[in-house]
Amino acid sequence: MNKITVALASDHAGFALKEELKTEITRLGLDYLDLGTNSSDSVDYPDFGRAIADALIEGRADRGVIVCGTGIGISIAANRVNGVRAAVCHDATTARLAREHNDANVLALGARIVGTEVAKDCLHAFLSATFDGGERHQRRVDKLG
Ligand code: RB5
Repeated sequence: MNKITVALASDHAGFALKEELKTEITRLGLDYLDLGTNSSDSVDYPDFGRAIADALIEGRADRGVIVCGTGIGISIAANRVNGVRAAVCHDATTARLAREHNDANVLALGARIVGTEVAKDCLHAFLSATFDGGERHQRRVDKLG
């Protein structure tokens, strides 16, 4: 795994899982950038999806990991920024294919949907897989804008 910086963000529902994933990222020897939230007090997921998107577009991070209750709201928010490809994943296979086929740059997880161990499996798969780069996949990713 190349030495990269992984930005993380969550809302209140994803806060505890985000904290676990920070530890896991450190264990993998990678750097992280924590964009909040910093407690389980209620916050609005669009603010944190946007924070991840900005960090990626500004080059402050190479990959993003976002967590809310389902992974859906925060991924919708992140995906509103051009160049962000956030994928809601539920297992290692979807996380790997999100990189290989879709060149996803943000892993979105639902803390109320997947357990901690499955989330870690998703993280490992997402960070270790690479974009397939085949002509058909590149053409489709290009069409995303
Ligand atoms: C918060 O209750 C919940 O709605 C949020 O975490 C997320 O699941 C939205 O998509």
